[in-house]
Formats: sequence, C-alpha cells, structure tokens
Amino acid sequence: MSKHTFYLTTPIYYVNDVPHIGHSYTTIAADVLARYKRTKNFDVFFLTGTDEHGQKIQKAAQSCNKTPIEFVNAVVDKFKILWNKLDISNDDFIRTTEERHWRRVKKIFQQIFENGDIYLGEYEGWYCIPCESFWIESQLKERNCPECNRAVERVKEKNYFFRLSKYQNRILEYYEKHPHFIQPESRRNELLQRIKSPVEDISISRAAVEWGIQVPSDQTHTIYVWIDALLNYITALGYDDDMQTFQKYWPANVHIIGKEILWFHGVIWPAVLMSLKIDLPFKIFAHGWWTIEGQKISKSLGNAIDPLGIIQSYGTDAYRYFLLREVPFGLDGNFSYTALIHRINSDLGNDLGNLLQRTLTMIEKYFHGIIPEVSGADDELRSASEDTRVRVDHEMDELQLSRALEIIWEFIGRANKFIEDKKPWVLAKTSATQPQLAAIIGTLARAIKDISVFVYPFMPKTAAEIQRQLGILKDNHPLCLEFHKGFKEGTVSQKGKPLFPRIEPP
Ligand code: MSP
Repeated sequence: MSKHTFYLTTPIYYVNDVPHIGHSYTTIAADVLARYKRTKNFDVFFLTGTDEHGQKIQKAAQSCNKTPIEFVNAVVDKFKILWNKLDISNDDFIRTTEERHWRRVKKIFQQIFENGDIYLGEYEGWYCIPCESFWIESQLKERNCPECNRAVERVKEKNYFFRLSKYQNRILEYYEKHPHFIQPESRRNELLQRIKSPVEDISISRAAVEWGIQVPSDQTHTIYVWIDALLNYITALGYDDDMQTFQKYWPANVHIIGKEILWFHGVIWPAVLMSLKIDLPFKIFAHGWWTIEGQKISKSLGNAIDPLGIIQSYGTDAYRYFLLREVPFGLDGNFSYTALIHRINSDLGNDLGNLLQRTLTMIEKYFHGIIPEVSGADDELRSASEDTRVRVDHEMDELQLSRALEIIWEFIGRANKFIEDKKPWVLAKTSATQPQLAAIIGTLARAIKDISVFVYPFMPKTAAEIQRQLGILKDNHPLCLEFHKGFKEGTVSQKGKPLFPRIEPP
C-alpha cells in the first residue's frame, strides 16, 4: 500500500538580512511537524527556501555595493547554515533566483494572462518596501504602512493587474465550506471580515523594479515579488513541466506562516490557484509573533538576536524546545533569557534529565547496568504512555505544539512520581523483593524509551542521546521510533553525562 503524503511549507524568507529568531521559529515548527508525520509513516515533503527578488533586496544590495546576486548568495548561505545547526530536515530548499523557479513563474504568469485574469492598468498609490506591499491612501496609518508602521513611497506607474475581485465570492464560499482552511479561528474571522468588504484588483508587476522576473512579452516590467514568491509552493514541485512530484504531493497539507502575511496566503494565493484551476491547499496556519524582551524585533532597534549565539550557549534542542513550549502556537510570545534558562533548568534538567539520570543510576546500582526484563505488558506506565500517545496525536493534528509538549511533560511527571511512589531503594534492601524491583526499573526504562519517541520531533538530538544511554542506539543505527519496542534481552545501559546540566542564571 502506498503511504499517505504530507506536504508542508514555510514562507520563503527575504534575504535582505540574516535570519533571526522569528524566522527560526516558523522553520522549527514546520520541522517538528515534518518529523512527527514521518514517525507516523507519512511520505513527507517539507519545503523551505528564500525569496530573493524585489525592491527591498535590490536596495539592500546597493547599500553594500554588491550586485543583487552576489548579495543574495551570501545571505542564503547564512540561512542554510542556520537550518543545518537547527537540525532542520527539509526535503527541498527553493531559491526564487533558481532557473527552475523563474522559468516556471514566467510560464504560469502567461497562463493567468491567457485565462483573462491579467490586464494592463494604471496604478497610483503607496508602496511599502520592507513589506513589499501596495497600499491605498485610506489604508495608511498616520501616513505610514499599516503593517509595519514604516514610511511608504508614492508610486504611479502603468502596471499589470490581477483580477482579484473576480474571485472574491468564490473565496468567501470556499471559507464557508471549509471552516478549518485558515487557522487559528480568530485569524480566520479577521480575514473573513476583510473579504466581505469590497476587494480591489491588485497590481502584480513593477515597472520601476529591475531585480525580479521579467513579465513575459514585456521587458519593461518585472513580476511583483509576492506573486513570484507564492508560486514557489508549486514550482518547487515541478509545476507545470515536470508534474510527477506535483501530482504526488499537491495540494499542500499545510502552509505554516506568520500572521502578518495571511492576506497574501489566505486570499491572493487561493485566487491565483483558482485562476490556474488548481486545488487549494488544505490548511494555512498563521502563528503569532515573537518580541525580544518585550520589544518588536527590528533592524533599527538592533535587537534581532542571532539564533546561532543561543544555540552555541544553550544547545539546539533547548532552543527548539523553548520556542515551541513557551507560547501556544498561534499566539504572540516574548523571548527572554530568564525564561529560556528557567525552562532549561526546570523542564529539561529537573524533569526529563533527572528522570533518566536517576533511573540509570539505579540500573547500574541494582542490576550492573543491565536493563531488567518485564513480564507483564500491562503496567501502569505503559497504559499512561498509550493514553499520552492518543492525546499527543490529537494536539499534533491540530498543530497545538505547546499543548503536545505539556501532555508529554505530564507523562514525564508521572514517571518521576512512579519512582517516588514505588520507592525502589526500599525494595532493594531485601532479596525477597527483587522481582518487584526488577519490574519497576524495567517499566521505568521502557517509559523513558517511549518518552524519547515523544520528544523526538521536538528534540531529535536528545531523543538519540536518551536511546544511546539506555543502550538501544548503537553507532550509525537509526533511532527506534516505535513505542514499547527497542529493548533486547540483556541490553546494557550506557549512563552518560546529564542531558541538561543546570545553568546558573546570569
Ligand atoms: N518573503 C515573504 C514570504 C513569502 S512566502 C511566499 C516574507 N519573508 S520574511 O523574511 O519577512 O519572513 C516572514 C516570516 O518570518 C513570517 O511570516 C514568520 O514566519 C517569520 N517571522 C519573521 N519575524 C517574526 C517574528 N518576530 N516572530 C515570529 N515569526 C516571524 O514575508
């Protein structure tokens, strides 16, 4: 039987500047989902990439006295290095400057044109370069961009327009028929309000911007960077000259994005797909925004923390865990070192790290390092693990990543309590209670093994280290990602260093 497919994407990031914690958040969340789905035996295609055209990047390159391509090549490497350090398991990385992308974008633009959905008109209004967005006068907030609050510039040019208005009703109907299309619910409602008001056609070319994909048959225009960018979700799959991958994975199961780009994904993208007569993605999930110590992340404030620095000091897994645990996925959150260190010391060190350490110490002390066998498959931790699995699956399907972690930590708490309740050190005092002692320790080892499977999507290195210390994982072997499996008779544990040594707050 062929596997079910699961196609998920991140936004493709602008390469005007190096990646920061906000970019890493989306990519880590997508990675967690991709890894989780693979453990559930899905055939996953996980796409990320970079958005390299447009006025913002043209300007950034100019200010460094570089050609745009020299400039973007250097910044793209920073993204790739970071994804590698963060253990991101993407299956493809698309750059909009790649030939496979721009060639297909031109063709698709022409198709939309031939479908009668593009026409030449006159655009007069405002443009925000940092957001690469067109705004009309009435949308401005105190004469600034309503999205990022920065200065906008006046634009008056002959542009190609896309008939967005033509699709307004169909999009509305689609929303009504598919209540889970946009998530979270609050964002869906916001968008719904906006679609119910009149929707104008949008400009989809720029005469004044050279750094972009040329409009076919009009050398004086480049394609608006947002149309160029959105199409990455299908050009990466080969649309429409190499359709095998596209047919296999499209429609996307979920586009994970930040809340500020929901209009583009929830309205413009569906309209473009409708024009091309392509099915819409199943879900668009817009997460919230991170602030740093209470402030918006901004280049001008210079507060954009480099994730590489955090990883170097605290480790990849602690960073991944913190971002996904600290804030319910969908809401805004605040990054602070105090909160990060607190999570490391309490959740990771005290709860998880100590559970492993205590258990392995007892295995060494009472069983010479050999994991005891358990006879009954129906012990209380095993059924708690089953229950945890069902609840975690439910939350993961809803993309409630922090809830999934909370449930996993309830199970970790349960295992720690099991030690307190059963008091193995008392049973160890007499030989008559050896069988009970073996059952308890064997049960604990198996529960910890299940915990490694639960935490794997979030913290792959930690999952591997737990399995290594339990004696299950040998060099170059894949992790055992099945529940209640992995131990052979006589498995010898390899107690190592604590998983998360205590960090003294600065
Ligand atoms: N290039 C467009 C996206 C095109 S997708 C077809 C773009 N790029 S971006 O570099 O600005 O990245 C935006 C994404 O980065 C957000 O949607 C979000 O996923 C992430 N974040 C950027 N700053 C963020 C925070 N401060 N907090 C959380 N995520 C944020 O928009």
